[in-house]
Amino acid sequence: MTPFFINNLINGVFLFLLCTRNLQSTEGQIVLSGDDNEVSGEFSTVAGGFGNNATDPYSFVGGGYFNDATGDYSFVGGGLGNNATEKYSFVGGGIGNDATGASSTVSGGFNNIASGDESTIGGGDSNIASGSTSTIGGGEINVAADVDATVSGGFNNIASSEASTIGGGDSNVAAGEGSTVSGGFENSASSDGSTIGGGNQNEASGFGSTVSGGFENIAISGGSTIGGGGGNVAAGLGSTVSGGKDNNATGAFSFIGGGENNQATGNNSIAMGRNANAKKDRSLVINLGNNEASSKKDGEFLVNSDSFTLQIGKKKVTINKKNIKRFKKLLKKKNRRLEEIPNQYEINEYVNQQQTIIEELHKQNEKQQEQINELNRMMNNFIAQSSSE
Ligand SMILES: *[C@@H]1O[C@H](CO)[C@@H](O)[C@H](O)[C@H]1NC(C)=O
Ligand SMILES: *[C@@H]1O[C@H](CO)[C@@H](O)[C@H](O)[C@H]1NC(C)=O
Ligand SMILES: *[C@@H]1O[C@H](CO)[C@@H](O)[C@H](O)[C@H]1NC(C)=O
Ligand SMILES: *[C@@H]1O[C@H](CO)[C@@H](O)[C@H](O)[C@H]1NC(C)=O
Repeated sequence: MTPFFINNLINGVFLFLLCTRNLQSTEGQIVLSGDDNEVSGEFSTVAGGFGNNATDPYSFVGGGYFNDATGDYSFVGGGLGNNATEKYSFVGGGIGNDATGASSTVSGGFNNIASGDESTIGGGDSNIASGSTSTIGGGEINVAADVDATVSGGFNNIASSEASTIGGGDSNVAAGEGSTVSGGFENSASSDGSTIGGGNQNEASGFGSTVSGGFENIAISGGSTIGGGGGNVAAGLGSTVSGGKDNNATGAFSFIGGGENNQATGNNSIAMGRNANAKKDRSLVINLGNNEASSKKDGEFLVNSDSFTLQIGKKKVTINKKNIKRFKKLLKKKNRRLEEIPNQYEINEYVNQQQTIIEELHKQNEKQQEQINELNRMMNNFIAQSSSE
């Protein structure tokens, strides 16, 4: 510090200069101390520091180095290279922070920009709050780009739509209006009202869809849900995959409980186990076997397994590969009995058959009659002959 009262340019009234080369040009300005400061706004103040400028009416720089308060009523508390450029903008401190929106705030940190009107950055590094009334708590390289968007912290997160929220994590995107990514890594909540709880590379792209966690899960359709697991797809309206791996719920309101490589393609269908395909509407396929199993009829309940055991109390009966044929036959026999109730066609056929038989009998009858007649004739002849002899 150089001696007091040297090289200061003084025109105003409220002067109290302790250091050198401060510039102060009109009334109502104060430079309390420091070096190379410029105070040119009406009723503006630089309290100290070096190379600070308070250029607009009622602007204030508390101290620090190369700070600018260039908006009306703007405020820089201190720090280095901070700018508060718009009306009522505020930088508390830190390095290289800009509050360039009206009434915007950067409390501290490094290289942060609050450019939206009434936007707020608490701290952190290289964050940008460009949406009006958007908020970034801290973290690094986060962006809150639309009205009321929020990024609490984390790294490289973007809340790009109105009222979207990111809690934290790394490289997450909340791009739908009112969408949320709580945390995790490279998750995207891209549709309005969509939610991702966490996990890794999940996507909630359906309206109001949810991926709670897991990895590489996609909830594509409106109101679809994935609980967790990996590589699952909920593509049907209101469909659900609870977890597991590589499952696809593509039917509307379909459900996959978990497992692996299952598909629920029919509307309101349910698939569980492994390689189960509930193709048909309202079908349920549980596959516990080693082959694939898929439904063939609407409303079908299909269970494929190596064995099937029913237990009541301590009594069990098991259907397995060995006895399933007998079981099938049993059911077939029963079916036959049921099938004994004939239909009209069968009745007609039957009548026709009987008719043919009757006709045949008639013919035979006629033949026999002829034979009888013949015999009769022969007998008569015989009698006639013998009596004449
Ligand atoms: C302050 O104002 C002076 C004169 O206008 C300018 O040369 C200097 O770069 C400004 N300082 C900052 C930190 O902007
Ligand atoms: C602050 O304003 C000055 C002068 O306009 C500029 O040179 C500097 O880069 C700004 N600082 C930041 C952090 O933007
Ligand atoms: C299945 O559901 C979708 C969506 O609700 C509907 O458009 C479609 O007609 C349904 N299919 C059948 C066969 O009911
Ligand atoms: C699930 O859907 C995805 C994307 O539509 C597809 O690539 C994948 O083959 C499907 N998986 C199964 C098991 O059908």
